[in-house]
Amino acid sequence: MITIALPKGRVAEKTLELFQKILKQEFVFEDRKLILECSDFRFLLVRSQDVPTYVHYQAADIGVVGLDVLEESELDLLRLLDLGIGKCKVVVGSEIGKNIDYRKSRIKIATKMPNITIKYFSKKAIPVDVIKLYGSIELAPLVQLSDGIVDIVETGATMKQNNLKVDEVIMESSVYLIANKNSFYAKKQAIFDLQAQLHSSIKAVK
Ligand code: PRP
Repeated sequence: MITIALPKGRVAEKTLELFQKILKQEFVFEDRKLILECSDFRFLLVRSQDVPTYVHYQAADIGVVGLDVLEESELDLLRLLDLGIGKCKVVVGSEIGKNIDYRKSRIKIATKMPNITIKYFSKKAIPVDVIKLYGSIELAPLVQLSDGIVDIVETGATMKQNNLKVDEVIMESSVYLIANKNSFYAKKQAIFDLQAQLHSSIKAVK
């Protein structure tokens, strides 16, 4: 049995479709159910930010998660396969017509990704105060809560509609199949088989 942590939210449907295709079975999480068994697999439905935690502590053998979320978690997990979905960028953004003033002694950045933010600005030796938010990040500079933001851009619609622009791209992200090292070695063949099936199913779509 392989336990797989799947993310709720934006990529949930596409991820389930991928697994349904390779298992050749329709399955859904019923109502408020968070756990589902199908053939030799057990699926867990978790918040995207929690996928690395489930995999790291071996509550799940493998997981499906965005590189941005994995990077933010700072956990040392194996990246097995780029699933080619959930493509987005992590960017620094600010209001159109107003650039972030880097001459200030410290800049204020609102984000739900404090680790990525601190790492990025410390590499550039820019002192930063991180204001941790849980959503609607684009609002922060508009009401002077921050000088800028570090956030995800997918279609760009949220930034555009809130009069923000991309100043710098920190990283490109897409959704990956990840594993912890212990499960990977203990269940190597089964994980390899799954990886190969996912790989050919993705290739067939391209
Ligand atoms: C994410 C992100 C941006 C938005 C970007 O938020 O934080 O706000 O998506 O997508 P776009 O470029 O396609 O407009 P999410 O939808 O997860 O909601 P949140 O504000 O609750 O974090």
